[in-house]
Order: sequence, then C-alpha cells, then structure tokens
Amino acid sequence: MKPIAKFVSLACLAGALACAAAGSALAQQAPKPEALIKWRQSAFQVVAWNSGRIKSSLDGSYDKEQVVKAATVIAAIANSGLGGLFAPGTETGKGWHDTSVKAEVARNGARFAALGGDFAKESSELVRVASSGADAAAVKDQFGKLQHTCKSCHDDFRNAN
Ligand code: HEC
Repeated sequence: MKPIAKFVSLACLAGALACAAAGSALAQQAPKPEALIKWRQSAFQVVAWNSGRIKSSLDGSYDKEQVVKAATVIAAIANSGLGGLFAPGTETGKGWHDTSVKAEVARNGARFAALGGDFAKESSELVRVASSGADAAAVKDQFGKLQHTCKSCHDDFRNAN
C-alpha cells in the first residue's frame, strides 16, 4: 500500500469526519496543469539531450557505452506513461513556457497514444541493438527509426515555434 493510502485508511479509523477530511486533502493533490506541462517539457528536454549524445557519437567516433546510456534514458522516459502528462485541461497553458501541444491531442487521443507506443518500442529497440554490440551502421539505422517517431508525433501534435 502506498504511504499516502495507508495514511488515509488510518485516518478513517479515527472517525468518519477525519476520513472525509483526508479524502478531500487527497482530491486536492491532483497535479496542477502547470506542473503537468512542466514535467512533459522537462521530459522532452532530457530526451533531446540524450538524442544529441547519440547523434554526436554516431557522427564522430562511435562510443557504445555512451549510446547505451543515452538510449536507456530515452527508453525509460518513453516507457514511463508520458500520456498521463497530457491530461484534459492541459491543451493550453504554461509550464516552463507556453505549451506547444496542438489542440488536436484532445480530438485524436488514439493516434497520439499509438505514436507514444511507437516511441516506446523504437527506443527500447535502440537499447537492445546498441547493447548487443551491433556495429555503428546498425545502431544508426535504429536511431533513424526512433527519430522518425519524434517527427511523426511533432508533425501532428506539436506546433512549430
Ligand atoms: C507521442 C508524441 C511525441 C513523441 C514521440 C515525441 N515528442 Fe517531443 N513533444 C511532443 C509534444 C506534444 C511536445 C510539446 C509539449 C508541450 O509544450 O507541452 C513536445 C515537445 C518537445 C520538445 C520541446 C520541449 C519544451 O521545452 O517545450 C523537444 C525538445 C522534443 N519534444 C523532442 C523530442 C525528441 C528528440 C523526440 C524523439 C526522440 C520526441 N520529442 C518525441 C510530442 C512528442
């Protein structure tokens, strides 16, 4: 049981009033839209940092260890349930800066989720290929597939700015 849930059930033992109070305190803890937008912008900045590390390694002298590290970070983010950061009410607003998500995200959630699934799949595959000791050409090929998922999603769901 999560500590907070444990706390609530203990509070419930103390009486119905305390229980109701704890319940409303929990309800108020839903993250604010501003926090959700900040988290997703931060997540994508970390993704961009690590994509850049992979690109420089592939353009320069290939460093397997760096690429595995960077791909692992991207895959962790891509598999982390990012979709939850695009909750209703966050189509407009400000995180670190104004969101660049398109309103389309609310109308076409299924496609957005499918592209998120491709992002998770291709980044996990990049970890697998790079860890296997494949040559730089094979890693580059898989990195290209990953980059394609960025572009597909940005084309449909992110305003250029
Ligand atoms: C499933 C959709 C999707 C995928 C896949 C995706 N992005 Fe994004 N990305 C977005 C959306 C939507 C935003 C706008 C977020 C906002 O401003 O609220 C964004 C924003 C960004 C930003 C700007 C962050 C900021 O500070 O505002 C960067 C950089 C970025 N993405 C890089 C990438 C890279 C690199 C990849 C692939 C390795 C990638 N993204 C894959 C949807 C996606």
